[in-house]
This record gives sequence, structure tokens and C-alpha cells, in this order.
Amino acid sequence: MGLDLSENSNKERKKVTVADFSKMKAQGQRIVMVTSYDYPTSTIADDVGVDSILVGDSYGMVVLGYDTTIPVTVEELLPVCQAVKRGARHSLLIGDMPFLSFQISEEDAIRNAGRFIKEGRMEAVKIEGGREMAHIAKAVSNVGIPVLGHIGLTPQTATLHGGYRIQGKNAHSGKSLVEDAKLLEDAGVFGIVLEMITEEVAKVITQTVSVPTIGIGSGRYCDGQVLVLHDILGLYPRFVPKFAKRYANLAATIGEALGEYVSEVRRGTFPEEKHVFKIDDAERNKLDLPQKS
Ligand code: KIV
Repeated sequence: MGLDLSENSNKERKKVTVADFSKMKAQGQRIVMVTSYDYPTSTIADDVGVDSILVGDSYGMVVLGYDTTIPVTVEELLPVCQAVKRGARHSLLIGDMPFLSFQISEEDAIRNAGRFIKEGRMEAVKIEGGREMAHIAKAVSNVGIPVLGHIGLTPQTATLHGGYRIQGKNAHSGKSLVEDAKLLEDAGVFGIVLEMITEEVAKVITQTVSVPTIGIGSGRYCDGQVLVLHDILGLYPRFVPKFAKRYANLAATIGEALGEYVSEVRRGTFPEEKHVFKIDDAERNKLDLPQKS
């Protein structure tokens, strides 16, 4: 089955900008975001018409095999950003600022965000955290770098504080999340990722702020959705979050293909005649070939 690009013909698609995000919210057009960590998948995501590609620090878990996103560094993510950039022509490209690349000081945050733009060739950065990170989001967006906020479950700190928990389960924490979102909006973010927030609270946040909300495990009323590519494709069997929908089972497909390869090599049925290169007959005769018995 080939890709059906008719609805989102690449030739007709315009480059998505941060300004388009707010237009899409205003027009009630849902924003589609996905993570990507390489050239082939960013090419495919761009071709099928996703609005935005996030080079998430989830790369550390789903590609590098770390237990959490904590060890991920700017140095690790920059070549990944560059590969994603080479594959995507239309989607808005967002680099995820890893743990301790933005928390230390505004100056440090600006310097590292600038690396995502100048070296990684991203068009925006994502910063995890609510009110406590609003001054950082403001400093980075003040120098002209668009910032996507991220509240609710924030994996960089959640793993240090005992794991992944649903956020906004009561009115008190719900109101606090709404306040975080408002403070980030005031700080100048162009959108906010809402992660693992109860659907009701995510809806209130979405109705309260003027910038679009991009949900992940936060229900049906966000302005857009984001999922980790490997969850969509069934390529991270170690853990499948309840909120993620698996649209394919690539781990099984890859396993079958590799299993067949292993068995064909062992049986001697690969390579076949069509896979080999031959020397000319005249040259072959000059080779010191063992005599056929
Ligand atoms: O790193 C990531 O993939 C993310 C998404 C889950 C939003 O931050």
C-alpha cells in the first residue's frame, strides 16, 4: 500500500509557521504533531501532512534505550535535529530542550535554545515546566526564539519525583494547572503541550488560553494532539502508555523480516543468483580457479 498524499499534496502545502498554530486554533482546525528522530521518518511524516515534528527528548528512551529522558544532552539531540530537518520541508520543526539545558539560568537557556535553532536548524524549542519556568520561556522568546510550553506530567522532573502520574485529578491541582498555562501564555509561548492531564481540566485550559494546546494523554478537547512516533508504530514494546494508540506493530514486522533473514542465511538460501556480482567469462578463465571435479 502506497502513501495517499492526494489530500495533502506536498507541492501545494505551505510551510507551517508558529503563526499558523494560532490561526488553526482560531479556525477550529486540529493541529497534528508527532515526534521524529531521523531522516526517513521525518520525510514520511512531512509527506503525509503532519503540521509539526517534535524532536523529543523521548529520543533518549525510544532510540537510545535510556530508562528516562534525564541523561539526554543537547549534544545528542543536535545531530538528530539536523537529520529531521533534512527530511522535512513543510512541518514546523521543534527541538525539545533536555534536562538542565534551560533550568540553570536565562542566559544558559538562551544559549542552548540558540543552538537548537542555529546548529540543529529547528524553528522553535519546547521547554518543560509551568510557573517556575515562565521567566525562562519569556527570556528565550524575547530573543526571538519561539517557545512551546509543556505542563502537566513533565517527564524530566516526574521521573525524579517517583514516576508518571495523572495530573489535575482534583479541583485544586486543576486550577493550579490553568494558572500555569496562563503564566506561560503571558510569558509569550506560542502553544502548550498538556501531558497526562484529566480531560476536564485540559478542556478548561484549552478554553482559557488563546494559544493552542497540544494534548498527549489529555483527552479530546485539546487544540491538537502529539504522540511519540514509536508508540504509534509499535516500536517501543518496553512500555505502551494507556493514552497512546498503536497504528502498526512494526516490532513484529521487523522481527518477522529479520527472523526470515537469519534463517535464509543459515540455510544458504540467501544470497540468491540475482544478488551476486559476476566476473566476465574471459577474466574468470584467468583466475586460478580450483578444477571442477
Ligand atoms: O519528548 C517527547 O517526546 C515529548 C512529547 C511526549 C510531548 O516531550
